[in-house]
Amino acid sequence: MTKNKYNQAIWSKRIKKKSSLLFQQIGSSIDVDKRLFKEDIAASLVHVEMLSRQKIITTKIRNKISKGLKKIEKEILQKKFPFKKKYEDIHMNIEKRLFQLIGDDAGFMHTARSRNDQVITDFKLWTKSSTKKIDKKLNELINTILKVAKNNIKTIMPGFTHLKNAQPVSLAHYLLAYVEMFERDKKRFFNNLESLNENPLGVAALSGTSFNIDRVFTSKKLGFKKPTNNSIDTVSDRDFVVDFLYAVSVCSLHISRISEELIIWNSDGFNLITLSDKVVTGSSIMPQKKNPDPLEYLRGKTGGTFGNLFSMLTILKGLPLSYFKDLQDDKEIVFRSFDTLHNCISILNEVLNNFKPNKSRMLSLASKGFVTATDLADYLVKYHNKSFREAYQVTASIVNDAEKKKIKLNQLSLKDLQKIEPNLKNDVLNIFDLKNSINSKKSFGGTSFNNIKKMIGKYKKIYK
Ligand code: ARG
Repeated sequence: MTKNKYNQAIWSKRIKKKSSLLFQQIGSSIDVDKRLFKEDIAASLVHVEMLSRQKIITTKIRNKISKGLKKIEKEILQKKFPFKKKYEDIHMNIEKRLFQLIGDDAGFMHTARSRNDQVITDFKLWTKSSTKKIDKKLNELINTILKVAKNNIKTIMPGFTHLKNAQPVSLAHYLLAYVEMFERDKKRFFNNLESLNENPLGVAALSGTSFNIDRVFTSKKLGFKKPTNNSIDTVSDRDFVVDFLYAVSVCSLHISRISEELIIWNSDGFNLITLSDKVVTGSSIMPQKKNPDPLEYLRGKTGGTFGNLFSMLTILKGLPLSYFKDLQDDKEIVFRSFDTLHNCISILNEVLNNFKPNKSRMLSLASKGFVTATDLADYLVKYHNKSFREAYQVTASIVNDAEKKKIKLNQLSLKDLQKIEPNLKNDVLNIFDLKNSINSKKSFGGTSFNNIKKMIGKYKKIYK
């Protein structure tokens, strides 16, 4: 036994020449996949437990391996573990260290498995726990939105279509729209759990194994629901990666939309909100500036997460079955997307805790652009026996008249109105009141104050 036996590559008997230095560098993924160490050790512990239960290895060897693996976990946690690029990835780094710690018995650990099933097992476990982390972050964010919404039920602002004033709404209603989006994001992440709950461990390289393993046991022990069905599919399947990246992308998309919204509202032209000094930056030349950089950062980062989704789709697109080195990039892509999203949710949360609506400006903008015109048309249908199309025409003439006179709808006199629609009575004037307009939108999901209160109440029960 040479002294340096455990330093050599596992395949050194077969592959005689040392890899070129260049290949060693590109072949190594340890800097990226060392993040999987906990999952890798957990899976190996369960794997050797199963091997010993099935009498494939002895209890003595299993105990030795388990002890060694726990020591390795400690070393990594204490930052004392010697990660080596030449051992390529986290799986081989751990196995090599196990040889150093317990000697030749470490060689029993890799019975009835391959790195191909090992890596996906680790990665699925990691993605599952990261899904839960994102969910927790989204809960925090939703809670913040609910808090701001609760304080702004009666804050009136214009609702826009085409960024033109459309109809008056409550700011709370506007914000609750984002609660719906983030709720859907949570569901989207959870939809992936079904695939994430299928255990890859035991499919080995691609065809399964001749050892009498118990995949149901390892599934249970590792928190999976059941073993995967087809060994070839298992080692080449990265659908769960694509689904995760897609869920990240859509969530980023929502973050980007609300960021853009807030950037517009914060612009000098709109001036609907004021961002606290905590979440703006200055200019190096213009002393007066307060720029919404964090929001722009969020909008920009979305590009990266979309890119990650497309990178993965493209990697998979032309790949025959089963395992190829191409797949190794999946982890770098997912880690990047996860880190970015996790960070972006925190940043958005911080911004939402640090802005103020400019309520009087919101109200005055809402009173421009004839935003109660639809209310008038509805009123003509309800109380003057008109079809909606006819009412629409009458209202359009009234809007034209107000525009010509350069006044708002509520500044028209009853006489002005009667010139166009002679049957109108005094009560029509209430129609132009913004609060009345909002409160009339009582249909389920509409912006009436009461609806909003109920909706906030419903969500508050979920997000305590
Ligand atoms: N580090 C590799 C990856 O992440 C593990 C699987 C290696 N399998 C192989 N046949 N080279 O994909």
